[in-house]
Amino acid sequence: MSSLLRVGIIGLGTVGSGVAHLLLNESARLQRRAGRPIELRAVAVRDAAKPRGVQLQKNVLLTENANELATHPEVDVVVELMGGVEPARQYVLEALKHGKDVVTANKALLCEAGDELFQTARKHGRSIGFEAAVAGGCPIIQILGQAMSANQVTSMQAIINGTSNFILTEMFNRGLPYAAALAEAQRMGYAEADPSMDVDGTDAAQKLSLLVKLAFGTAVSPEDFPVQGIDTIELADLKYADELGYAVKLLATAKLIDGQLEVHTQATLVRHDRPLAQVDGPYNMIALTGDVVGKAVFSAMGAGEQATASAVMADIVDVAVGRAGLTFRALDLFGDSEPLPLQPQEKIYRRYYLRFNVLDRPHVIADITDVLGRKGISLASVIQHEVPEVEETSATENSVVPLVIMTHRTTEGQIRQAAAELDRIAALRPPSVYMPVSG
Ligand code: NAP
Ligand code: HSE
Repeated sequence: MSSLLRVGIIGLGTVGSGVAHLLLNESARLQRRAGRPIELRAVAVRDAAKPRGVQLQKNVLLTENANELATHPEVDVVVELMGGVEPARQYVLEALKHGKDVVTANKALLCEAGDELFQTARKHGRSIGFEAAVAGGCPIIQILGQAMSANQVTSMQAIINGTSNFILTEMFNRGLPYAAALAEAQRMGYAEADPSMDVDGTDAAQKLSLLVKLAFGTAVSPEDFPVQGIDTIELADLKYADELGYAVKLLATAKLIDGQLEVHTQATLVRHDRPLAQVDGPYNMIALTGDVVGKAVFSAMGAGEQATASAVMADIVDVAVGRAGLTFRALDLFGDSEPLPLQPQEKIYRRYYLRFNVLDRPHVIADITDVLGRKGISLASVIQHEVPEVEETSATENSVVPLVIMTHRTTEGQIRQAAAELDRIAALRPPSVYMPVSG
């Protein structure tokens, strides 16, 4: 029998528990796939006294000192599942310097410190597996790193935050209030420790940065492109979008246009007949176009214990069979191209959905369309549903009603300028909603 691969896990929360469960309960299957036994040797947590759903065997070291695990002579591969940037970065660096391969699901860490960690891994002849960091059970790193090797990716549209997609689905399908849907996503283990990163678009933007680096050889940070989440979206928006023939999705997009990269992560209207519009719950989907393969669509469960543990485990098996080093080196293939310039944000060109809450008074629509017209924004349709007529004019004029406008194609810059001016209209009751429409 080949030698044992000894695994240390930092973090025994949602994902760590799933990985520990697989190591402890599926050892025979894993040994068959890896050609050698894989054993859980050490676990580091914040609070060792906390009750856990996983029963660790007596020979497993349980420590509150993650550095001890990262440098432990009886650990061959360190699996970082604690999350956050610091001190996770320090532990990963220590593990690499001590000759260990690393597997992580931590997109925040890779987005912030990926270059430093990857360089350190290369310097020490080690690998970092991060399949679980982007799309849960959907092996998009493997697809971009290997299967798309013959292609120049020209466009990528992705749903890569399971929590947001779950919330939007629960709100629309079950009429659940936003807060209740978010609480359910947390209970199911989909959300980050700080769920604001899920709903404000940060998590998807961090994942998009990793995908852009792989697909286009260009480093972009979420500060460089528009990032808006789903936290301002109301059930009314989902219903209006549906009436207009669209679903609302938190869409992460990167497109090559005339030698420039258009990149954004925004709640977006997607036409019902598109595969991306049909992704429900915590599922992820990545729709790619490659210049050789054409259109390709990949989908799987994007968050939660099982799907994420499945991806982490695949990376551990990669280490066990000796493939991880090759896979990791292959990702470097995409680093040899010239970085692409980013398209200026204000030039991003598409249609928009606008929703205003307006006092039901004369001239309000004229005021709004006047601003839009002066900014050169052309309207495609307008919806204001009737509300029951009341006797007193003053009561009508003080009631607030939604006004929804779909524009023809315009630029992000024109929309931003119009939004700044529209905010000054006295009969508007903020917040207004501005959502792009996927082309
Ligand atoms: P989680 O449930 O909050 O678990 C975090 C674990 O890390 C806990 O066991 C915690 O210990 C431990 N920990 C925190 N600080 C520590 C420290 N300084 N030293 C040692 N242990 C420490 O998080 P999670 O949802 O499993 O996520 C883990 C990582 O996977 C994150 O990077 C996340 O972005 C990523 N990820 C998560 C999912 C998902 O669906 N949840 C999917 C893909 C990727 P205690 O238990 O003692 O507090
Ligand atoms: N919080 C993340 C999500 C976990 O909901 O997609 C998977 O990365």
